[in-house]
Amino acid sequence: MKHVSVMTTEVLEVLNPKEGEWYLDATLGAGGHTAALLEKGARVLAFDQDSEAIEHAQTRFATQVQARSLVLQHENFSKIENTVGSLQKTSDIGTIRGVLFDFGTSTEQLMSSERGFSFEGDGPLDMRMDTKLGVQAKDILAVVPEKQLAELFATLGGEQYAKKIARAIKKNEDPITTTAQLSGLVARVKPKKGKLHPATKVFQALRIAVNSELEHISAALPQAWGVLEPGGTLVTIAFHEGEDRIAKQYLKMLAESGAGSVLTKIKPSERELAKNPRSRSAILRTIQKVHTNQDKERNAL
Ligand SMILES: C[S@@+](CC[C@H](N)C(=O)[O-])C[C@H]1O[C@@H](n2cnc3c(N)ncnc32)[C@H](O)[C@@H]1O
Repeated sequence: MKHVSVMTTEVLEVLNPKEGEWYLDATLGAGGHTAALLEKGARVLAFDQDSEAIEHAQTRFATQVQARSLVLQHENFSKIENTVGSLQKTSDIGTIRGVLFDFGTSTEQLMSSERGFSFEGDGPLDMRMDTKLGVQAKDILAVVPEKQLAELFATLGGEQYAKKIARAIKKNEDPITTTAQLSGLVARVKPKKGKLHPATKVFQALRIAVNSELEHISAALPQAWGVLEPGGTLVTIAFHEGEDRIAKQYLKMLAESGAGSVLTKIKPSERELAKNPRSRSAILRTIQKVHTNQDKERNAL
């Protein structure tokens, strides 16, 4: 199954890319949003911490990479400031007209059982987006004490049965090292309700913890704002409350301080929801950087 990009029409509407302008796609993934920007004639600098996403894009976009309409960076988006700054000094990358964050995992990551992100199928309980990271999900289950494990499931996953699940993990005779072991254990401990797989929230919490996702988002947003040119637009797409809360607070602060304007929040259309159920939890937020008096004076010269 291939990743279906979320709210691409809305992303293009708010970014309004023009021929030759540079955009930063902070979360390349399967490259759907990048492809849409390139089709409009824009140039894209794309980050992903997952080497598989970068390798896939090197093949898919070989022509655009060759023509330097697309520059790929195997890098964490928490390094935007230094990476973009040095690329702008040493290469043809110009001012950045827009930045897009489409948080979370791609379908390719979820569907690959060897990566350990999914409660479906079986594979090692890994969950590292960047395979250079040291700690895997199985290590967290082995090392973190019961009380903290329960807190982790509750705060990062919103899991109601966090304490029961943490207790069962710690009481289990053998260490939990595979996705099937963990999803089976959660399904035994927790009553099944609704359509959601019982292990969804535990898997989400572990993935966020393994990849320090919320810390990286908090670090990256101010850096993205810093590299954005006046008049440029920042777009975030979040899929759960933890991600969205950070984006919402940061954008609100920018709007209140007068640094940004045109704050919008968009949900997927009924049409998109019908075609792509994964989009149901998506929230797109956007803010435009205002021109300071200094920018206006510089432009008038
Ligand atoms: C939802 S997917 C993006 C999908 C993409 N917009 C598309 O249209 O195909 C999220 C991607 O962001 C990457 N990612 C998540 N956190 C990251 C981080 N801190 N730094 C760099 N990439 C990150 C993941 O590896 C994944 O490939």
